[in-house]
Amino acid sequence: MNQSDKKNFEFIKNSGVNYFLQDSPRNWLENTKDKTKKEIFNENEDKIKGINEIIADIRKHQTPLKDTANKLVLYDGNTDAKVMFVGEAPGRDEDEKGVPFVGRAGQLLNKMLAAIKLNREEVYITNVINWRPPNNRTPTDEEILEFLPYLQRQIDIVEPDYIFLLGGVAAKAILSTPIALGKLRGQWHEYKSMNLNKIIYTIASYHPAFLLRSPQYKKASWEDLQMLQKKLNDEN
Ligand code: URA
Repeated sequence: MNQSDKKNFEFIKNSGVNYFLQDSPRNWLENTKDKTKKEIFNENEDKIKGINEIIADIRKHQTPLKDTANKLVLYDGNTDAKVMFVGEAPGRDEDEKGVPFVGRAGQLLNKMLAAIKLNREEVYITNVINWRPPNNRTPTDEEILEFLPYLQRQIDIVEPDYIFLLGGVAAKAILSTPIALGKLRGQWHEYKSMNLNKIIYTIASYHPAFLLRSPQYKKASWEDLQMLQKKLNDEN
């Protein structure tokens, strides 16, 4: 990269615009294939360090949500996961434990994972918002935008191959669209980050809490999960 491209790249990065659309991924970053065990180990250490920096930054960030919440909730699972699951915001149980998806919706999520032969230890689970909104209210658009950079940074660090969006808030945040979930689900979307040399295949589906209230949507949710399972199986 020449000096002026580098300056431009830094400018775009620092402007807070974390990704933008383009036809093909950039080639700025090194080829990540053929890594040694030591390189993989160092990379995982770096990932955990990067995630810990995000936790520190969220703690420092002033927001009224912090005043009413108990514990910061960032992630559960594996920072080197192939699949990232993104929910909405912590509820009461998550706020008490500091871990995402540990309440009733979390138990259903565990079953959904098991149904496609995954478990919590091999995926990365997070939320759009990291402090519990008062009375579990839906996060506002302003709050979504406020926390989006932290979510984008997690995606850049974990570098998953697939993102599974749980519910309308996650779909709105990551797919940058107000289109209803019913129209977005059932198909693959492409997430592109300026910092990553790859496309991340992304699917949006129903939130487990919604499925608990409206079990008639479980069939559609199962179809979406199977789309993910097929992608994972096709890789092997
Ligand atoms: N609902 C979410 O969206 N996230 C959680 O962590 C728990 C419930």
